[in-house]
Amino acid sequence: MNKIYSNILDMVGNTPILKINSIDTGLCELFVKLENLNPGGSIKDRVGLQMITDAENKGLLKKGGVIVECTAGNTGLGLALAAKLKGYKLILVIPDKMSKEKVMHLEAMGVDIIFTRSDVEKGHPEHYQDLAAKIVSETPGAFFTDQFNNPSNPKIHETTTGPEIWEQMEGNIDAFVAGVGTGGTISGVGKFLKSKNSKINIVIADPVGSVVADAVNTGSYKYENGSWLVEGIGEDHIPGNLNLDIIDEGIYVSDKDAFEMLNKLLQEEGILAGTSCGTLVHAAVEWCKLQKTPKKVVTLICDTGNKYLSKAYNKEWLEENF
Ligand SMILES: Cc1ncc(COP(=O)(O)O)c(C=O)c1O
Repeated sequence: MNKIYSNILDMVGNTPILKINSIDTGLCELFVKLENLNPGGSIKDRVGLQMITDAENKGLLKKGGVIVECTAGNTGLGLALAAKLKGYKLILVIPDKMSKEKVMHLEAMGVDIIFTRSDVEKGHPEHYQDLAAKIVSETPGAFFTDQFNNPSNPKIHETTTGPEIWEQMEGNIDAFVAGVGTGGTISGVGKFLKSKNSKINIVIADPVGSVVADAVNTGSYKYENGSWLVEGIGEDHIPGNLNLDIIDEGIYVSDKDAFEMLNKLLQEEGILAGTSCGTLVHAAVEWCKLQKTPKKVVTLICDTGNKYLSKAYNKEWLEENF
């Protein structure tokens, strides 16, 4: 810990794990990996940096090039950090429901932001992923990082996040719980953990209204215009980077339960967590309480609650929305 770093990008990853102490987890012990402590405040710093590094190594991104991405904000911040230090221009397509703190942070970093609707399905020209693909086709020299399909995304979790968890837990882990935005985290971490011990349960925490838990639990799904307030997780389709073969179970979590858990995390554990963490920790606690024997469970604090002060930690907003 006495090390002095010479580049902020070297500080991405190697995040600590904290044991949950006060929240009731039944017979189990619950641990959270604090990805909020990455330099850009989220787990997506890992992905942003790796997608740029791999594109450079493959010759897909040339000096002064333009990077385009569609993002709920955090991947944008991870990309912005690496793009700024490496000298690339960044264009981001962002759904309009995203918190103003994330948008202000991106604006402060000099990113070109294009807002689009969050109430349209994939396949609609204004859906953030479809719009990003269109911008790429119309921008000469643009590189689409495409976090939803880019193999660098699960790869960085398979080679860093997963091994870190395994080492920090000294191999004593029975379940890993995460949400799905692109599927990169759960697919990469899940693949690594299963390669170490195929008995480890890989569990998806999914907002009610999203299709991912249905796809896991029933093998089929139908999107019915569901919407949810937590940011960064939940989908209307199965993203290319989600490897359903390694997932054991999906747990449905309402916004109400997720936001109540956020408050508990702050009041009882002192963790100021981002909204998706409410979904993850609620699902992890639910899984813990169903166990008949003691188990060790790991989940993530994907990002910092500082990004959501105007929403999740604002009384008026909470009263209006619940
Ligand atoms: C806050 C937050 N949590 C979780 C995730 C989900 O991670 P993944 O895209 O690896 O499935 C994201 C992704 O955008 C996110 O922004």
